[in-house]
Amino acid sequence: MLHKQSITPEDYREAMSRFAGHVHVVTAEFDGVKRGMTATACCSVSDAPPTVLVCINRTNPRNETFFNAGSFAINTLAIDHVPVANAFSGFADMTDEERFSVGAWDTITTGAPTLADARAVFDCRVLELKPMSTHMVVFGQVVGLRLGEHRPALIYLDRKYRDL
Ligand SMILES: Cc1cc2nc3c(=O)[nH]c(=O)nc-3n(C[C@H](O)[C@H](O)[C@H](O)COP(=O)(O)O)c2cc1C
Repeated sequence: MLHKQSITPEDYREAMSRFAGHVHVVTAEFDGVKRGMTATACCSVSDAPPTVLVCINRTNPRNETFFNAGSFAINTLAIDHVPVANAFSGFADMTDEERFSVGAWDTITTGAPTLADARAVFDCRVLELKPMSTHMVVFGQVVGLRLGEHRPALIYLDRKYRDL
């Protein structure tokens, strides 16, 4: 057991690796440029009106698309979406366009790319962008929903993908 009061980013990341997170791909499109990013920092805020948030690294210039688009989608992954999660995590050296050749993508309401067979899709209009240290907290109102087939969820825990 380790107790610490002086916390480094490495300590924090190690502790967060023990925190199970559902894996999603967050997407947006702006000026003809599509962007997608594997993310676990997605959270429900309210059901009335339906509101979510996602925390996006703002030190990565490629994430500007999310902050300019005015809309985004959260695509909630199932265990069979590991290739999609890998494509959008930056581990595979693929361009943004190549990433969208993995999985079947369409649109619902806002025009943000949506994954046809996701467990659930939350298509959102941006309500507010709140910079917080290295990240941008993006609040969205859910204006389109798609409920996919029930099958095991893709979870990230102890730096590995697992199903639940
Ligand atoms: C399981 C997992 C969860 C992630 N969660 C987030 C997240 O919530 N927010 C974030 O900004 N980046 C997150 N990332 C990192 C981004 O996916 C990654 O930095 C980005 O896709 C790299 O994009 P690039 O190759 O286009 O620069 C996560 C990565 C993985 C593998």
